[in-house]
Amino acid sequence: MSAKRTDEYARLFDAAAREGIVVLAFNIPYIPMTSAVADSLEQYDAYGLIQVAELEVRRFESKSVTAIAEEYRRVANPRVAGLHLDHTPVIDEFGDIVDWRRYIAEAIEAGYDSVMIDGSRLPLDENIVVTGEVVRMAHPEGVLVEAELGSVLGHESGPLPPYDELFATKAGFTIPEEAKRFVDETQVDWLSVSVGSVHGAIAPATKNQEKVQAKLDIERLRELRDATGVPLVLHGGSGIQQQYIDESVRNGIVKINIATDIRQPYERALAAGGSVSDAQAAVSEAMRRLIRDVHRIEGSATRLRALM
Ligand code: 13P
Repeated sequence: MSAKRTDEYARLFDAAAREGIVVLAFNIPYIPMTSAVADSLEQYDAYGLIQVAELEVRRFESKSVTAIAEEYRRVANPRVAGLHLDHTPVIDEFGDIVDWRRYIAEAIEAGYDSVMIDGSRLPLDENIVVTGEVVRMAHPEGVLVEAELGSVLGHESGPLPPYDELFATKAGFTIPEEAKRFVDETQVDWLSVSVGSVHGAIAPATKNQEKVQAKLDIERLRELRDATGVPLVLHGGSGIQQQYIDESVRNGIVKINIATDIRQPYERALAAGGSVSDAQAAVSEAMRRLIRDVHRIEGSATRLRALM
């Protein structure tokens, strides 16, 4: 892998994994949210990622992968904030094929530190082929790669199965033997796993709803950590019950994605007649709670750099 820009970033994630310090990754569906997220990371000296998903370009107002990179460079301090391309699905939530190579290439060109390819709606063998191709595109350019195995539901427009049923049946949960084969064959850097979390809804009819307070199967998570040996990623990070969040970070989760917990306050402030700066203030308030109370990562930027 090229040492061009990966080295420091990869070492930072190694330190996070070793020391059990979680890295939060914040989604940007509206460009003005970027500075509110970046300023909070700086204010609390917390290391986090600014990220955008293909569906936020398509269905929200983040404009483009390049536009987010430009805003990141304008407002964020790389000492406390990395830049990540979130979900680039091979098949989107409507079942349509996505031109994923174009998104990944655009992110590499725009200077993203890491990219996610999401082949989780494909059969295992095809997910391996696609993810392997992205690793071969990204690693020579010094860009790390996240992939997903198993299904973290919630982005689809139809209703979710009842949550308790989903958790009890472990439907779509990642299988440790498959995860081991997946990581061995693709050489992917981080793996998003399904162990009980769900994404916040994004369909217009449901996107304002309160999220279900998800639980996590910590036993399965531990098996996945032992089987793969790579940092694991938890999607659907908003609204998970506190005890499970804490346990997950002790058992292999290194990156947690957060969208709903900062998007809803932004949208609500605007819907109540507030200005963009009122909406940004609502995001800052949510960030304070997430950094200080929920995940307790104040000072993690300095700690991580000292541990690298
Ligand atoms: P939430 O909307 O539940 O925070 O999930 C975010 C996510 O996983 C984005 O990839």
